[in-house]
Amino acid sequence: MMLDFRKYAISSAFRRVKKVVAVCSGKGGVGKSFIATGLAWYLKDSLRTGLLDLDIYGFSTHRFLCYVPNLRYESIEEAVPVQIDGLVYFSPVLLIGDRPFPVRGSYREKTVLDILSFVEWPELDVLIIDMPPGTGDEVILPCRYLAEKISTIVVTLPDPISLDVASRLVMLLKEIGVQTLGAVLNMCDSSVNIEKVGDVIVVAKVPHIHCVVSSLAQGRNPYVACPEVREYLKPIVEYVRRLVTD
Ligand SMILES: Nc1ncnc2c1ncn2[C@@H]1O[C@H](COP(=O)(O)OP(=O)(O)OP(=O)(O)O)[C@@H](O)[C@H]1O
Ligand SMILES: [Mg+2]
Repeated sequence: MMLDFRKYAISSAFRRVKKVVAVCSGKGGVGKSFIATGLAWYLKDSLRTGLLDLDIYGFSTHRFLCYVPNLRYESIEEAVPVQIDGLVYFSPVLLIGDRPFPVRGSYREKTVLDILSFVEWPELDVLIIDMPPGTGDEVILPCRYLAEKISTIVVTLPDPISLDVASRLVMLLKEIGVQTLGAVLNMCDSSVNIEKVGDVIVVAKVPHIHCVVSSLAQGRNPYVACPEVREYLKPIVEYVRRLVTD
């Protein structure tokens, strides 16, 4: 029998984390990073919260947080999360900086698994993961390795094409035994009459918020600069908070 050392390394790195909630979508550009970062930002008011950006090509949560790293780790073995206003945070930007990261083939999944294996998390009630787009190994393997403590939130636009992709993702997650807690319809008018994505309930409908665009353009954290973001994300924040504290 082959021993899976990854399993031990990842279990050990996450041993102090009670629950992991991964924000996924299948489709790219639908607002995962915006929702994942906001969820973590508001949860930190009442829970010990972490945020892990697992999008090794498109890492962007630091931009939403307006965080400019003043350090760069030389190797993954020495990398530890940083604190941003009480949020425990790790992103590939702490390893790679603001450069392109042209990894190919199996090296891509190895990099994701190295981040999961080597970055040790402190005592946390919940860790939010901003997942890369798609349904490839970089999404499926973290779910498999964290199976005992992970569940997901699916973000989608309210159009038929995004909804199709999101429904297929929900099916795939179910097949591998990962529960989807709820769906967020992003860039969605409150009058839109969609209550489920596949068999998952819609927990929040978030419209296009102009203040998000303008605050990001001015280098300001939209979760602080735009009070309406807190209001729109409140249903999903409360929903996750209840699930985590139950
Ligand atoms: N509700 C919203 N109101 C205004 N702007 C938004 C909203 N949701 C997302 N955006 C903007 O849309 C862009 C795409 O969002 P985001 O980066 O979160 O998508 P993503 O799903 O993480 O993309 P990727 O698949 O590339 O990781 C960003 O510039 C973000 O600021
Ligand atoms: Mg993203």
